[in-house]
Amino acid sequence: MQIISTKKELQAAVAACKNAGKTIGLVPTMGALHAGHASLVKRAVAENDVCVVSVFVNPTQFNNKEDLAKYPRNIQRDAELLSNLGAHFVFAPTPEEMYSAEEMNTTFQFDFAGLDQVMEGKMRPGHFNGVVQVVSRLFYLVQPDKAYFGEKDFQQLAIIRHMVERSSMAGTFGDLKIIGCPIVREESGLALSSRNERLSAEEKETALAISKTLFESLEWAKEATADGVLNNSAEAVKKVQQRVIDTINAVEGLEVEYYEIVDQTTLLPTDTFNHAIGCVTVYCGPVRLIDNIKYTN
Ligand code: PAF
Repeated sequence: MQIISTKKELQAAVAACKNAGKTIGLVPTMGALHAGHASLVKRAVAENDVCVVSVFVNPTQFNNKEDLAKYPRNIQRDAELLSNLGAHFVFAPTPEEMYSAEEMNTTFQFDFAGLDQVMEGKMRPGHFNGVVQVVSRLFYLVQPDKAYFGEKDFQQLAIIRHMVERSSMAGTFGDLKIIGCPIVREESGLALSSRNERLSAEEKETALAISKTLFESLEWAKEATADGVLNNSAEAVKKVQQRVIDTINAVEGLEVEYYEIVDQTTLLPTDTFNHAIGCVTVYCGPVRLIDNIKYTN
């Protein structure tokens, strides 16, 4: 496995692979890797001739400086894990290598057809512009055949799909396929996240109520619909939404920022459980955790 820190070196390595007729899978990450990332890398290694993993804590997607400063970083450990997983290249640039000073300080504006106006987008203004800024640059540099993202950041995945399939950038990235991979959970149910590293043992225990409540809500959804079938009822959806919020908020140390039950494609509030996903953000002490649950596919 080769660790690369400049764009030029990366482009040369990728060009050599392309010239040899090899397919390329890209896994963009911000490091602090865990089993969730490992599942993406394993899949990229299995489905492509060459697997490139980027490890870059992207400053332009943080609207909270403290969050950026506290984001866990451990490139040595990440590189060891990636090597064991069979990745071929790790791209770990500095912010200065990735962006010009102007790019670092300009807010990029992309059109996401409203997908960025809800949930995370509403709470973290500019966040998805920063994500798309870095992801589109990585796509441009690596020219991958497939790129892998976790479903834990469901809104991010929807926005990246939109960028590749439907936005003004559609077609820019050739036949690139975006692959969404399921959430990986601890045996306890807690969704794996780099932010879990910032939880104390006690907070980690407290945080279990989040996934537990989401799983319970699948039953509540069945109960809340008159005939036991997941069908249309605005009232049923609202009822389940509120019950999830109340149940999590009743746990000392947890505070729900939002729980929205939305359509999996439009991300707009829905009055049916069909094709619906519930997305939650919860503060566990100072740590902001996200999770989601699909009511039906
Ligand atoms: O999901 C993440 O870790 C980041 O948002 C991503 C996609 C690597 C872009 O910085």
